Parts: sequence; C-alpha cells; structure tokens
Amino acid sequence: MAAAVKLENVWKTYRMGDETINALRGASLEIKKGEFFAIQGPSGSGKSTAMHIIGALDAPDRGSVYIQGRNVSTLSEDELAEMRGKTVGFIFQQFNLVPTLTAMENIMLPMIFQGKSEDEREKKAVELLGEVELLNRKGHRPSQLSGGQQQRVAIARALANDPEVILADEPTGNLDSGTGRKIFGMLKKLHDKGKTVVVITHDDRIAGEAETIAYIKDGTIIKIKKN
Ligand SMILES: Nc1ncnc2c1ncn2[C@@H]1O[C@H](COP(=O)(O)OP(=O)(O)O)[C@@H](O)[C@H]1O
Ligand SMILES: [Mg+2]
Repeated sequence: MAAAVKLENVWKTYRMGDETINALRGASLEIKKGEFFAIQGPSGSGKSTAMHIIGALDAPDRGSVYIQGRNVSTLSEDELAEMRGKTVGFIFQQFNLVPTLTAMENIMLPMIFQGKSEDEREKKAVELLGEVELLNRKGHRPSQLSGGQQQRVAIARALANDPEVILADEPTGNLDSGTGRKIFGMLKKLHDKGKTVVVITHDDRIAGEAETIAYIKDGTIIKIKKN
C-alpha cells in the first residue's frame, strides 16, 4: 500500500537578498495511511516548511514528495490544486480564518473551489458545525469567537472536502492548555475514524500520544520514534 506521504531527501532553501537559509537539508520521512504522526523540533528547525511541503503548498528545491503514491512534481498546476483541495486539510496555529466571513461561510469556502453546489455546501457546513459543537455560533465572525472556537471552525473548514490527510501546524500553540486538550481530542477522533493526522507540536504529552514521532533539527529528521 502506498504511504499517505513520503519525503525523500528534501531540500528547501529560502533566499533573502544575499542571504540563503537552508530550511530543509535532506529531510526524509514516511507517513503511513491512517497514521497519527507527530513532528517535534526547536523553533526554526524547519517544521512549518516541512508541513507546507507535505501538503504540497510549497515545492522542494531538491528531493521528491509523494502524496498517496503520486510524485507531486509530475502533477500539473490544476492536478496539484485539485489534490491539495481534496486530499489535504490544513489547520494552522493562527487559525487563518477569513475575518470578513462568518463561521459558516469560512467552512463553506473550500467547497466552492471543488465546485460543490450551494445546497451541498450549506448542508455539509451545518453538519461540520454540529461536529465541532458550534451550531449556535454559525453567524459569528472570527473576531466574535474565542481562540478555541476559532480553531474548531478551522478544523471544520479543514474537513470540508473530507480529506484523507489532516495537517496541523502547532494547532494548540495559541490556546490555553485545557482548550488545547479539547482540540487535540478532536484530532485524535479524526485519527480514530481512519484519517491520517500529522501534527506539529511542542507539547510532549501530545507527541507522546502519536504513533510515530519524527524529531527534526536544522532541517533534517534526526530520529524517528515509534510509540
Ligand atoms: N518564507 C521564508 N523566507 C525566508 N526564510 C524563511 C521563510 N520561512 C521560513 N524561513 C526560515 O527557515 C527556517 C525554518 O523555518 P520554519 O520551517 O518556519 O521553522 P519552524 O516551523 O520549525 O519554526 C527558519 O530559519 C526561518 O527563519
Ligand atoms: Mg513553525
């Protein structure tokens, strides 16, 4: 069976004026389908860069990326956009909701890009609002929601197109520990339902509950630990 995601010797360099930053230096990892996978490492070690590449939001300078067995570099822009939209759901530390849209509209947004009808979008958004227990906040804008509520909207949005792989970049980093546990519980439930869940975290307790932990340092995966 093809891995959900595979990185092979991935390099990523950022150029800023005269300076080059090697954010990834030959990073390799394999995430199995249905796996709960954590990535841990110090600030600046390349975690977010790796996550963007895992989700095909960004392309490596060198090395290969396979998502569900498909070599990402062989896909056209259109195929890439479709795969990103359908296969991968992103959750960010800063929630990244559209401030002018309501909770409901934020959740409906990714479905527009997949050509779903308005009826379908509304039905699915209501179902997802129910799952994250925010039906009573569907008309609220992000600024009218607490951090934990915003992150629950972001989770619902990430699930809008029923992706196989959920990527969460420090999803509890901006939340108090109790709210963070709740968000983590939701990610765990998605894993229990069979989704592949990849989470970047500083929290040892969260990483300790993952099936696999990849430790990253200076842009390389230095250790893989199976729990
Ligand atoms: N868009 C960018 N332009 C230039 N440098 C960047 C960019 N994104 C990240 N970097 C640099 O690349 C390195 C890795 O960053 P990042 O992947 O965000 O690390 P982490 O998420 O582990 O904190 C850091 O030194 C960071 O400053
Ligand atoms: Mg980061």
